[in-house]
Amino acid sequence: MLRKRTAAVDENEGNLKIDKKKAPRATGVSDNETRKGVWSAVISFGQVLLLIIFVPPFLNYASLQREGQMLQPEGGLSVDIGLGQKIHLMCKGHGQPVVMLDAPTGMSSDVWFHIQEEVSRLTRVCTYDRVGLGFSKQAIQNETTGMEKVWRLSTTGRMVDDLHRLIKSAEIATPLILVGSELGSLNGRFYSHIHDSEVSDLVLIDPIPDDLFEEDQWRQYWYMNLVPSLQVMQFSAATGLNRMFIILGLMQPALRGEGVSQVLEQRQKYYLSNPAHQSSAVDEHFFLNESVSQVKEISKYKPLSSRTSVSVITGESFDEQLPSHLNQLVAKLQKKCLEQLYPTAQHIRVYGADRRMIYKNPSAISEHLTKMIAQRQSKQQSQ
Ligand SMILES: *[C@@H]1O[C@H](CO)[C@@H](O)[C@H](O)[C@H]1NC(C)=O
Ligand SMILES: *[C@@H]1O[C@H](CO)[C@@H](O)[C@H](O)[C@H]1NC(C)=O
Repeated sequence: MLRKRTAAVDENEGNLKIDKKKAPRATGVSDNETRKGVWSAVISFGQVLLLIIFVPPFLNYASLQREGQMLQPEGGLSVDIGLGQKIHLMCKGHGQPVVMLDAPTGMSSDVWFHIQEEVSRLTRVCTYDRVGLGFSKQAIQNETTGMEKVWRLSTTGRMVDDLHRLIKSAEIATPLILVGSELGSLNGRFYSHIHDSEVSDLVLIDPIPDDLFEEDQWRQYWYMNLVPSLQVMQFSAATGLNRMFIILGLMQPALRGEGVSQVLEQRQKYYLSNPAHQSSAVDEHFFLNESVSQVKEISKYKPLSSRTSVSVITGESFDEQLPSHLNQLVAKLQKKCLEQLYPTAQHIRVYGADRRMIYKNPSAISEHLTKMIAQRQSKQQSQ
């Protein structure tokens, strides 16, 4: 019995090599032959499995390497802001005041495309990718340098430090009109409170209110629902699944259609398939509560200068895909926060819009910016 088994195993081990030679002889169905069949089925199944597991991530990785060079935004700059970190900056148009746009949580600067095009007819308008997103690759951390350790990576304090060094390094003229959406609005507030002489106007689009993360229902939604779904996105980007979904048309970029170039669409697909970009998007969401509490502290400690004008743009709801009680919660807390901190702020409501208005209703935002720029420019001329 024991001998027989050993023999069978031996034959099976030789299976791969001698299979072809032996095949023509295999007329009768013996015990050994059945086992051989099972084994080769197992082996080919294993090979297919390996193919499924390793090939998509490998192809995805190879494509990302190629696309990372091909899809560099035209006219963009890679600005060295020190500490080995480079930031992707893209400015269009000429004149002053300069408008600086800071993207919503987890998004690249491409989200501003329509607004930047429109506003660049009047003045210089810049967008940038926060560290880790888009074309601002995460620098290798040097733990021995001190300053940047004050704020955790992917939180507002750190981003504002980067933005300040970017504005200095790229010699962007100040005071500027600083526009931020969601996390970008936290950055805008933090920046304006600290570097008050550099900001003439602060524009907050869908601001994240200070007390939002004190609310159980919001924390529940954010950490049990939204963040895990973004982690799944990151995982499926890493495994090459997102690229497959895009090819199959199951996943689409946010900006598409009229006025959106082929390259811009390609670039968004590149971000969707890029696990490094997706991972930074997860981090920005994960640490949003910390960003909020940093801004809250700064606002208490250093109120905004009365010379800085504030305006707020919100849609009819924060996010139309959210249940209404969460939208009402955001609206209530936004109102409270603005009344306390910026009582003179102008508030513009865009009907039928939500947080996607930057690319779905861009004209509502560019119209407001146009008015603001015209006012500042006529003041400049009269001086
Ligand atoms: C890290 O920073 C320190 C201090 O600036 C410098 O001496 C050191 O060479 C840096 N290390 C790396 C790996 O860049
Ligand atoms: C933010 O949320 C995380 C996860 O729920 C928690 O561990 C952390 O203490 C929170 N931070 C702040 C500043 O509230």
